[in-house]
Amino acid sequence: MKVSEAVAARISARAFLPDPVPDEVIRRVLERASRAPSGGNLQPWIVSVLNGPKLDEFRAIAAQRLAETDGQGEGFEYKVYPDNLHEPYRTRRFGVGEMMYAKLGIERADKAGRLAWFANNYRFFGAPAAFFIHVDRRMNAPQWSDLGMFLQTVMLLFQEEGYDTCAQEAWARLHETIDAFTGASEETMVFCGLAIGKIDRTHPVNTMYSERAPLDEWVKFL
Ligand SMILES: Cc1cc2nc3c(=O)[nH]c(=O)nc-3n(C[C@H](O)[C@H](O)[C@H](O)COP(=O)(O)O)c2cc1C
Repeated sequence: MKVSEAVAARISARAFLPDPVPDEVIRRVLERASRAPSGGNLQPWIVSVLNGPKLDEFRAIAAQRLAETDGQGEGFEYKVYPDNLHEPYRTRRFGVGEMMYAKLGIERADKAGRLAWFANNYRFFGAPAAFFIHVDRRMNAPQWSDLGMFLQTVMLLFQEEGYDTCAQEAWARLHETIDAFTGASEETMVFCGLAIGKIDRTHPVNTMYSERAPLDEWVKFL
């Protein structure tokens, strides 16, 4: 598979088949992805893999925690988006949400339906494997961007292996539960989860191919 093919084929998968992901595949992908660049070669990524029964165990704990907190979780440790998200970002965010709910046939007015769908985040969309990625709290914005480069490398390598993924910031809402389960040091904070598995192509949500802004909107050649 060419890099360009992997980049074009990768989508956020939000429904998975039950087929397991062997630990060896995850290990191989992580090892290869560690070739991702990072400023000063800090390699600031810290990964906790949950596969098979361990993931089921975590899912049960997460469900219980969400039930206890009326679905609110433990509060986000970091702001996923800026307050009052401004243009053009606001429209882009709205656009992808509307596209997804249209594929799912959930109307805008159906708040309960949308919330019920969103709750699938906290089941890793049924993926058989997953990981959480933590970063040392003392790190700055450049190291967070290093995590991004690492994550995209991971996602592309999973494409090559025949597996799909979904990065999930939604998990930041359950940071205490995640930290306790993964044994994370207090010096680190969770950035996101990554659902991993074989994509369910029959599920309508996975027929979505999100849009991108045209080049002229965000590039200038001087
Ligand atoms: C760091 C990161 C966190 C994300 N968090 C979530 C999430 O919590 N739930 C979700 O459904 N999608 C999440 N996404 C997926 C984005 O919505 C998705 O990448 C974007 O809409 C573009 O679509 P595509 O990945 O299919 O190309 C996340 C993506 C990234 C990179």
